[in-house]
Amino acid sequence: MIERRSTLALLAAATGTSILPSIKGQAAETDSSKPAIAIIGTGKVGSTLGKRWADLGYKIIYGSRTPDTNRVKTLTKATGYRASAEINEAAAKKAELLLLAIPWNAAEDVINGMGDLTGKILMDPINGLKVRDGRFEAPPDLETSSGEIIQEWAKGAHVVKAFNTLSRDIMADPTAGGGPITVPLAGESPTAKKRVGSITVDMGLVPMDMGAIYLSRYLEGMARLRIAFRAKKKPAAIEFYLQTR
Ligand SMILES: NC(=O)c1ccc[n+]([C@@H]2O[C@H](COP(=O)([O-])OP(=O)(O)OC[C@H]3O[C@@H](n4cnc5c(N)ncnc54)[C@H](OP(=O)(O)O)[C@@H]3O)[C@@H](O)[C@H]2O)c1
Repeated sequence: MIERRSTLALLAAATGTSILPSIKGQAAETDSSKPAIAIIGTGKVGSTLGKRWADLGYKIIYGSRTPDTNRVKTLTKATGYRASAEINEAAAKKAELLLLAIPWNAAEDVINGMGDLTGKILMDPINGLKVRDGRFEAPPDLETSSGEIIQEWAKGAHVVKAFNTLSRDIMADPTAGGGPITVPLAGESPTAKKRVGSITVDMGLVPMDMGAIYLSRYLEGMARLRIAFRAKKKPAAIEFYLQTR
């Protein structure tokens, strides 16, 4: 799918007009065939994916500890397409698909504060990280993976480990990688993984169902590898493309 924001930007450039602001404004419509997504957390990942998904037609409801601050209001305005912000619990109630764009050390409290999550699809991009003596490791309370532990906490929800292996510039623009990029998925529900997979396809990325939720521990390892590589070899970066044969 061609993104509306970029298509309109091209049109605006070609015609010398400025039609973009009115289109990405709050009144602009989302695509009614696409589900709403509650993005819990309005930091770097939440805001990047929120804007991108809104461009692709998804209705975005941000969940925040402080939905009424100017910072969050500016974000909903920049997201456009009738995006809104609520406290985490209220946002979670409004969508079947949720993205947990929060730090690992906040995850238990945030999940406990979101009420009944039965039947919801929880997309988990979390990478707990502890840098010790120049080594990029999992924090001590992450012996398995956030994907597995969150599935324990959110019984009845369908946790899908997703997007954690991507850098933020690829979330914003997959073409920045210069080639195809895989989004490995792990989770217990094939249906939930299919739904998350279709969002990644919309984004121009390549989903790959790796299997059960316990495989999150290896996906989180991939992310630590990417972060460690970047830390040592900047400006070089790696992105993952996995091929089946
Ligand atoms: N940055 C990346 O490139 C990247 C890539 C892949 C995966 N990830 C993972 O994605 C997750 C989010 O990363 P991020 O870079 O978006 O983090 P961030 O910029 O620090 O944002 C995290 C957001 O979580 C919310 N939050 C809720 N409870 C919190 C608490 N107790 N302390 C701090 N924030 C709290 C905040 O939103 P409100 O203030 O609105 O509540 C905050 O803006 C992390 O688990 C990270 O490992 C990051």
